[in-house]
Amino acid sequence: MSQDSHKQEAARAALDHILPDLTSRSILGIGTGSTVNFFIEALAKEKDQFEGAVASSEATAERLKQHGIPVYELNAVEPPRFYIDGADEANKRLELIKGGGGALTREKILAAASETFLCIVDETKEVDILGAFPLPVEVIPMARSYVGRELVRLGGDPEYRSGFVTDNGNIILDVHHLDLSRPIKAEEAINQITGVVTNGLFARRPADKLFVATSQGVRTVNR
Ligand code: A5P
Repeated sequence: MSQDSHKQEAARAALDHILPDLTSRSILGIGTGSTVNFFIEALAKEKDQFEGAVASSEATAERLKQHGIPVYELNAVEPPRFYIDGADEANKRLELIKGGGGALTREKILAAASETFLCIVDETKEVDILGAFPLPVEVIPMARSYVGRELVRLGGDPEYRSGFVTDNGNIILDVHHLDLSRPIKAEEAINQITGVVTNGLFARRPADKLFVATSQGVRTVNR
């Protein structure tokens, strides 16, 4: 089975999980990326079952609207009942690396603000130790060189994501070779660097439930 079919299956499993809980007043937080795009496609068929969504990126907001799903500002609604998003890596404690698509800051805000964070991945995203995927760090543009030097001091090898500007008007440094064996400590240390908006480690706020699509079906992992 292809990776896309796996992504689709993980998305379907998350949708089946939330449907019994939805009411006409429910707000959903929706992440960014190819796996979530499958989720949005399936969700659109159920759009009468909930009120609307808050999006973690302009791209997702656009896609939701195209599917006829009302999109709200986070400040204008009650905390989302569920936040559904993909990940670039997930470990057994449901700590994640996210931000391959560059939407990490708004994703982290939605994960923090939502009641339950459901993460949907195919089995290629499961790892024992986070960090083979370069860690995205969103940085205020004028701080780029300074933050880069500080990341080198932490043992990383930052690479400027050339030509990419986040929805917040910032830049991304993708950091290779960091030791992320203690994810919470690493997340906090990187966020302490002045000029960093946030980094793509979701360890202080990991997922609550992971849906992993495998060749043997979808496996659910709870925190
Ligand atoms: C977007 O910024 C990311 O955090 C995505 O959630 C992550 O990159 C997963 O994307 P895919 O579902 O496309 O693999």
